[in-house]
Amino acid sequence: MNIVEIIERKKDGYTLTKEELEFSFNGFLNGTVTDYQMSSLLMAICIRGMNDNETFDLTDIFINSGDVLDLSDIDGVTVDKHSTGGVGDKTTLILGSIVASAGVKVAKMSGRGLGITGGTIDKLESIPGFNVNLEKEDFLKQVNDIGFAITSQTGNLVPMDKKIYALRDVTGTVSSIPLIASSVMSKKIASGAEKIIIDIKVGNGALLKSKDDALRIANLMKKIGYKYDREVETVISYMDIPLGTSIGNALEIKEVIDILQNKENNYLVALSKSLAAKMIAMAKDIAIEDALKEVEDSLTSGKAYQKFLEIIKYQGGRIEELKISDNIIEVKSPRNGHVINMNAYEFGKLSLELGAGRKNKEDVIDYSVGIVLNKKIGDDVKKGDTLCTLYVKDKVTNVDYDIEDLYTFDNQGSQHATINEDIEVL
Ligand code: URA
Repeated sequence: MNIVEIIERKKDGYTLTKEELEFSFNGFLNGTVTDYQMSSLLMAICIRGMNDNETFDLTDIFINSGDVLDLSDIDGVTVDKHSTGGVGDKTTLILGSIVASAGVKVAKMSGRGLGITGGTIDKLESIPGFNVNLEKEDFLKQVNDIGFAITSQTGNLVPMDKKIYALRDVTGTVSSIPLIASSVMSKKIASGAEKIIIDIKVGNGALLKSKDDALRIANLMKKIGYKYDREVETVISYMDIPLGTSIGNALEIKEVIDILQNKENNYLVALSKSLAAKMIAMAKDIAIEDALKEVEDSLTSGKAYQKFLEIIKYQGGRIEELKISDNIIEVKSPRNGHVINMNAYEFGKLSLELGAGRKNKEDVIDYSVGIVLNKKIGDDVKKGDTLCTLYVKDKVTNVDYDIEDLYTFDNQGSQHATINEDIEVL
């Protein structure tokens, strides 16, 4: 077999056989297929797509590239959650703490940033000392001991996704339905949970831009789950504006703390509660209304926050040393008006520009930088009000952005903000 011919075949729209996919992807993992050849194949897949069988085959190849966790040593039902990623998405850390404090076991493998979207592992690494590389035995022990553990694609779980993911991140090959489905589902299957919930994000700040794409991927993920005898539930949530009020690693950890201390009430909180309730209902086999009561109790009693602190400590994190840059630039409103739109994609790009994500594989993230949204959609603003605050690297005094890309104003008072804050359980 020849990698160039395989690339050409996909470029011309042919269906690849399992042997061809194995040859290409296993070859990439063991070094006989180069970065540039794999980038080219990934781009051909992005443009030409893959049918269901190719996607099932690719998922299988991903899973077989490493170990599959056996969670049978964990007492009780295990539930896992994954999000397809968006700007400001920190739901995993919120709902993981809630769900574990309600007695449900969560063994979570998370990823790094992808494209303009942030990754949970990068956010956790902003906490000094936090170990994101748990060995299998430690991972399982922690889930049994405190109900929740979170690790990166470490040890030997789906090493192929880790390598491909890093390449996709910097080659414009992120937004492909079959690539996202096989990446997410291979990790979920290999992580061993019996029940899986996937939060599929749609909008300009998400990897998937249209609801049709979200429905297609939901269907595909359920089919993959079925093949491996896993119960998969999907939820569609919307992301045309950033999720929550912060973008950037340490800033988002701080926001998680505020939410777990029950100080916030916004779409991010509603979404986290809804996903947490779904996980509890699935794990305990109870009605969603009863699960929601457990979620509320966990937040109001402080149990969820205590669980978060316990997880951080167990994985070696020193939360009191969380560092947020004290070099800030306030972005002022150029006019009086009403905020009728915000562009999550542009905010994601700006946070990359500030250094909160990677543009190249080798880039080192500055965990202390990011953006806090002082004004959000629906707010009235006066000329000179602070719209958002940029937390920038030391010595930076100026950042190049166009305010009109970030915010849309109506200064006649004739338009009202419309924003889709639905949470659709499929
Ligand atoms: N999350 C993943 O784990 N993989 C993708 O491809 C996209 C989002």
